[in-house]
Amino acid sequence: MELPRIIELPKIEDYRGNLTFVQNCDQIPFDIARVYWTYDVPGGVVRGSHAHKENESLIVAASGSFDVILSDGIREYKFSLNRSYRGLYVPVNYWRTLDNFSSGSVCMVLSSKPYSEDDYIRDYDEYLEYMRNLYGKDY
Ligand code: TYD
Repeated sequence: MELPRIIELPKIEDYRGNLTFVQNCDQIPFDIARVYWTYDVPGGVVRGSHAHKENESLIVAASGSFDVILSDGIREYKFSLNRSYRGLYVPVNYWRTLDNFSSGSVCMVLSSKPYSEDDYIRDYDEYLEYMRNLYGKDY
């Protein structure tokens, strides 16, 4: 499986404030089909808890901070995001959980596909079964 990784985005520093951009697939390994963001997230909640079969993502802490835990069913990877010039690239087939949202945080997600509920796996046992079918019985 392709590994998740942090991608450093361009940062234009300016005394008036900094600017970061993503342009087509120049900075990230996919063309952007959709952007969504979560905000007004109450303290202590957990978001995500699903996997995507075809949709790739870049997750950015546009404001504040939160943690992203990615699992392939065997290995787990934890990323603390707190810089708006840093994106977490999430390849397909990772189970994702987001928690530890700071007050006022904004989680912005660039996605490779339009929204489709059919692309989600929301049940963890179903996810493990899906991974077993893809990668063999060690799952
Ligand atoms: P979901 O992806 O489960 O949120 P999160 O992973 O942040 O916890 O989506 C929550 C709801 O919003 C769900 O009913 C589907 C809907 N939704 C859309 O309609 N369009 C979208 O682009 C996204 C991401 C979600």
